[in-house]
Amino acid sequence: MSRAACLLVIISLMSPAAEALDNGLALKPTMGWLHWERFMCNIDCDTDPNNCISERLYMQMADVMVKEGWKEAGYEYVCIDDCWPSHQRDAQGRLQADPKRFPGGIKKLADYIHSKGLKLGIYADVGDKTCAGYPGSLGYYEKDAQTFADWDVDLLKFDGCFMNRALLGEGYSNMSKALNNTGRPILYSCEWPLYEWPLKQPNYTAIRETCNHWRNFDDVFDSWSSVKSILDWTAAHQDIIVPAAGPGGWNDPDMLVIGNFGLSHDQQESQMALWAIMASPLLMSNDLRDICPRSKELLQNKRIIDISQDSMGKQGYRTAKGNNFEVWERPLSKNRLAVAVLNKLETGGPRGFNIGAAPGWKICGPQCNVTQILPQYKEMGVQTQQSKIIVSVNPSGTALLTVTPISSDFTRLHKLNWQGTFVRRKHTIL
Ligand code: GLA
Repeated sequence: MSRAACLLVIISLMSPAAEALDNGLALKPTMGWLHWERFMCNIDCDTDPNNCISERLYMQMADVMVKEGWKEAGYEYVCIDDCWPSHQRDAQGRLQADPKRFPGGIKKLADYIHSKGLKLGIYADVGDKTCAGYPGSLGYYEKDAQTFADWDVDLLKFDGCFMNRALLGEGYSNMSKALNNTGRPILYSCEWPLYEWPLKQPNYTAIRETCNHWRNFDDVFDSWSSVKSILDWTAAHQDIIVPAAGPGGWNDPDMLVIGNFGLSHDQQESQMALWAIMASPLLMSNDLRDICPRSKELLQNKRIIDISQDSMGKQGYRTAKGNNFEVWERPLSKNRLAVAVLNKLETGGPRGFNIGAAPGWKICGPQCNVTQILPQYKEMGVQTQQSKIIVSVNPSGTALLTVTPISSDFTRLHKLNWQGTFVRRKHTIL
């Protein structure tokens, strides 16, 4: 192949399947904090002032994000979910924050968050009402988009409750245009496919052109069964959803629940590793004011965040499954590969897995360099296709590694990496 043809192949392999929403945002998966899973619709500020949905909560979270290294690690958006507004719009028909819980109003809160070098996210709904019964945006898309822009909001999570499913596409796309027309860059987080799946297979080309990320599946709960159900759904639909992901638009498997109550440490490592492999937004829903040091270290692990934020922006696939192990692989820039091995057997002790059985291991010919990131950081040095490295994986835990090919023959490696590994999407049975 000539050099030019080779370059063309590389460029076309690197471009995502469809055009992303052209607002210049979410070129890497969004990182931040979102209140829902941890704080839900707690509006009782009289008896629970520390945990209720109020301006105080976001201000405190922003303070901690700056002080405790979260911002430095890359977490940037502080996001409000449902239950922030007053039940009535104002005299001009604009949404307004609940006056008791947000006495300063959203604009002032945005100023505070910006003064910390962070960004503010807000929540609304494409239909008549939000999921928790607050005013919806149906009939008010332009007005609400302008209100959010006037308040200097940086992200909108747009839910899909109380909406005629046949009109979801129209609604999501009209709000996208309304946001664009404000002239303020507002990252647009959708739930369009989640609400559309019961009706028909969503059009991911249209979704990618409309939204910066999109929820496909149920809300995450603080439990391993919930995290597993999200992984299972993603793997079952990967041929449909993975090609849609890329810089500017991402599949959103919902919040990280690391640092809460329901996941063991191994399970927290699995969520972090797999969310990085899935190129998911990393939106934590936890209490950063009170989080155990191990969870904090995991959420701030630079090597995992680097996988999540890899500049090539390709989402990974589940590439092999068997013997109660799953292998998930994500192609990274510079021909590298991230490999996650999940032990799905929830009994017994640590089990060994021969990493040479991972489909992507073929990039180790003639040689590769291997780094283990989870459960412990370990440089495993130079390996070959024949190497037999056994990694130990705890029940419901994950081993996470990066593999860097060593070769001077770029073209051959490229072929192996891209065509050998990732065009073929049939599962290998281990
Ligand atoms: C839906 C969404 C959640 C959350 C709640 C709020 O269930 O999927 O993420 O926003 O609504 O009511």
